[in-house]
Amino acid sequence: MKILVTGGLGYIGSHVTVLLLESGVEVLSIDNLENSNIEVLDRIKEITGKTPVFELLDLKDKDRTQDLFKKNTDIDGVIHFAAYKAVGESILKPIEYYKNNIGGLLNLLEPLSKFNIPLIFSSSCTVYGQALKLPIDESSPVQTATSPYGSTKQIGEQIIKDCCQVNKDFKSIILRYFNPIGAHPTSKIGEDPKGIPQNLVPFLTQVVIGKRLTLEVFGKDYNTPDGTCIRDYIHVMDLAQAHIESIYYLISSNQNFSYETFNVGTGKGSSVLQVIKAFEKTTGESVPYKFSKPRTGDTTSAYADVRKIENKMGWKAKYSLEAALQSAWNWEKEIDKNS
Ligand code: UD1
Repeated sequence: MKILVTGGLGYIGSHVTVLLLESGVEVLSIDNLENSNIEVLDRIKEITGKTPVFELLDLKDKDRTQDLFKKNTDIDGVIHFAAYKAVGESILKPIEYYKNNIGGLLNLLEPLSKFNIPLIFSSSCTVYGQALKLPIDESSPVQTATSPYGSTKQIGEQIIKDCCQVNKDFKSIILRYFNPIGAHPTSKIGEDPKGIPQNLVPFLTQVVIGKRLTLEVFGKDYNTPDGTCIRDYIHVMDLAQAHIESIYYLISSNQNFSYETFNVGTGKGSSVLQVIKAFEKTTGESVPYKFSKPRTGDTTSAYADVRKIENKMGWKAKYSLEAALQSAWNWEKEIDKNS
């Protein structure tokens, strides 16, 4: 089996590539290296002992994207990660976000829908906004996005759905990730945000290593047991495994569907303070933090109902929050050692 991974050197793409190679799948990896590093390719080789075929390619380049499919007529499926993902940046640069996330997707979809090559699309729980019912299941209505980043995920899902509707032989799975955290157990790959991290866990680990002074906890009066926001933090290794199960689900001929959406989370919600406490307990490090005002656009609580993916694919998250945080900390120490 040969799988094309777009954004293959990025945070989630690199972890999925490792698991694909380890399960004997041939990987064609593409990346434009805008938010990733070519060294990740060597790291993947170190972990797996195998070499994914890599091509430096930007999906915004329509001609080269078409050439890729002309040259590789044996691709069995595509996992599409290549996209911008910073909420705040997307508000400042909407055109870039739409060009990259939607333009790139359209260029990819042309050959996929023409040749009926199945697709896994990385979406986000952000599409649910503040859901009325918790835990959030896949039937929860999609709400107006609060950022261009969120819009690109909603519009992306809709475009893929439209393509599947018109061509029943073109199959797609949408994975709506909750909050991915953590790193590979070898600490050879992980999340390496450029500039100031926007997400909780990379910011927290940078504070603890001494790169930043204090973690700001955004808001303390939310309607939750301890007043801080609740999220569903999932270990990136569990998330990566969900992609492997999705590939088999998508490709196996006895599944009669053309478009399906799945939540990928642990099903458990943790507050910001619980994350801090769990980090301190598992690593023995203390986290300097202070409360600050709520961040615009944050929802109070989001955690997944994971019964659909469990029932249909037999996938379930295995790692604990503590294990995920420990791996994020090990990774931060590794980055620090090499900087
Ligand atoms: C965001 C995106 C989501 C995306 C995810 C992973 C939105 C609204 N959210 O999720 O789509 O999939 O990132 O990239 O589109 N927090 C602090 N201090 C910090 C940073 C965060 O207290 O310095 C809090 C936040 O208020 C939130 C929680 O930690 O309650 C998690 O925040 P974050 O890691 O940024 O993820 P989300 O906003 O949930």
